[in-house]
Amino acid sequence: MSISLYQPLRQFVNDLACLLDRTREEEQILAQGTTLLQTLIARDDWLDAEFTRPDPERYQQYLLHADAQQRFSVVSFVWGPGQTTPVHDHRVWGLIGVLRGAEISQNYRQNSDGLHLHGAPVRLEAGSVEAVSPQVGDIHKVSNAFADRTSISIHVYGGNIGGIKRAVYRPDGEQKPFISGYDNHHLPNIWDFSK
Ligand SMILES: [Fe+2]
Repeated sequence: MSISLYQPLRQFVNDLACLLDRTREEEQILAQGTTLLQTLIARDDWLDAEFTRPDPERYQQYLLHADAQQRFSVVSFVWGPGQTTPVHDHRVWGLIGVLRGAEISQNYRQNSDGLHLHGAPVRLEAGSVEAVSPQVGDIHKVSNAFADRTSISIHVYGGNIGGIKRAVYRPDGEQKPFISGYDNHHLPNIWDFSK
């Protein structure tokens, strides 16, 4: 790993940690975090190929960095052609920034008579960032916009997302608990300055 390869990610996690030192106000975190994430995904030359690999069966979630206090985590989310998530929630704030390709995001709301579409599906192009949270809307389904190529987004969450108890939703609104985990066993080494 060269110094330059992971410099943008290193800068991002440092800037985000500093932001969380300054404020715990979600509105400020989402607004300023969006700007930081837009800067990170404005270039697509820093993510090692190991964390961009799709799987033919299932979308992949590679942990890139976890804050020592588990205040945030950064994940490379890789969709193979045509892959889609189930309808799910997060229980913490989250920012979704498209690095490569494009994604379709559909929001949902749940009330006493079940699960409902909330607004039209949104197409997120490379470079764009969308926010989720229990306050601004936490239930969605995200899909690769392409049937013939991989899409990759960088997700940032207000906790260690792979360890958080949350839910997927059936069409009738019934919640099924799940903990997503991660698909990698090793993190990118963003701290090697020797080369
Ligand atoms: Fe999500």
